[in-house]
Amino acid sequence: MDITTWALQLRFNFLIQLTAYVVLFISVMQSGISGVQGAPVRITLQTLQNCRNGSSFNMTTSCCPAPDVDLNVPVVDFVPKRHGVCRVRKALQCLSGEELRIYTEKLTTAYEIMRNLPASDPRSLMQQGRIHCAYCTGSFTHDGLSAAAYFTIDIHFNWLFLPWHRTFVYFHERILRKLLNDESFSLHFWNFDNGADATNSTQVETEGCFKPGHFVPRIYNNNSTSTFDSNRSNRTLVPNIVADLSIPGSEFFPVIPVRSADEAVPRNREAMQIGMERGTIPRDFFGVTFKYGDVRNLNTTGAGSLEFQPHSSMHLWIGGGVMLPATAAFDPIFYMFHANFDRLWHIWMETGDNRKLQPTDPDWLDAEFLFWDENQVLRRVKLRDTLSIGDLGYSYEKVNDAFWMEDARIIASLASERRRRAFQL
Ligand code: C2O
Repeated sequence: MDITTWALQLRFNFLIQLTAYVVLFISVMQSGISGVQGAPVRITLQTLQNCRNGSSFNMTTSCCPAPDVDLNVPVVDFVPKRHGVCRVRKALQCLSGEELRIYTEKLTTAYEIMRNLPASDPRSLMQQGRIHCAYCTGSFTHDGLSAAAYFTIDIHFNWLFLPWHRTFVYFHERILRKLLNDESFSLHFWNFDNGADATNSTQVETEGCFKPGHFVPRIYNNNSTSTFDSNRSNRTLVPNIVADLSIPGSEFFPVIPVRSADEAVPRNREAMQIGMERGTIPRDFFGVTFKYGDVRNLNTTGAGSLEFQPHSSMHLWIGGGVMLPATAAFDPIFYMFHANFDRLWHIWMETGDNRKLQPTDPDWLDAEFLFWDENQVLRRVKLRDTLSIGDLGYSYEKVNDAFWMEDARIIASLASERRRRAFQL
């Protein structure tokens, strides 16, 4: 089956599935069952033990922890190091010379090891990918509730999106570091939002990295190394095609034209401004609430502004397995572009008084996730402990954020009309 037929097939399956959800939603509403509301989502050992096959686009997925992963183990509380080392995650386009050579070697070695770990090892790329898959295919159910009635847990299209992905990438990076046995290693990021040519910059900057970052970092594009995945769209292989951040967030299999840089850069800039808009309530940037007892929500409009368009666009633009949530995290590219979304969340928080718009609802702050750490120990992470990257021991290299911010005042002043328009695309 060629990719177009496959995409059409998926689109068809998606429509069928969507119809099923709409019918389910209406019947749930009519019967007055609204679930148990008003408690945070908590992933527990029981949640993992009750994992079951999920479904995505009408296909069955098997993403539960491998049967030989021991789930009768102690869970250890994660304590963020508030005063430990701080590692810098750098912008990939700015590495050069010896630094690039060394980083390439470390990164490709780490992924080689990770790919070769037995599939039963929670640190293997296989299991890392499956964890993400389990969380987007309805494999986990709120403890005590029924999977058949769709009381399943998803970390997309709702307010768990940013903190869950931050924590996922954080543990992934810890695992890479351990596999390399290199305390200094950090996962560098794809600065796809930066389309500025430093030479045209109106700002005189003295520190940081100001090269445009919107091309696929080449370090992920060498087909003889472990960071490559042959499944990506051909677009990603052509040097100097700008990643498109402006693909409508509500479309699952859109036609994606290749745009010239002249066309793509202003579109991306606008998509970033909308994605990074301040908003007026926490829902605007973080997404809709998702609590214990909520039923599965596959409606993309539940997403916060950054997730809705720039994030969906990246998945669609990279294409192949990355296009589908169930398969996205099997590709190493996933982790380094998610590091950039993580950076963007951080930047948003640091901008103006956006910090005040962070949810204060205890059902958000007290949500709990479980992740395997670099020693295969299961860690219980409280969402409130993920809110500061400094507490997690890393920072981001300064890059040309001003490219699309072109001062935060623009973002703050964008009319809500424009935001509404983006959400309706
Ligand atoms: Cu869980 Cu970019 O997705």
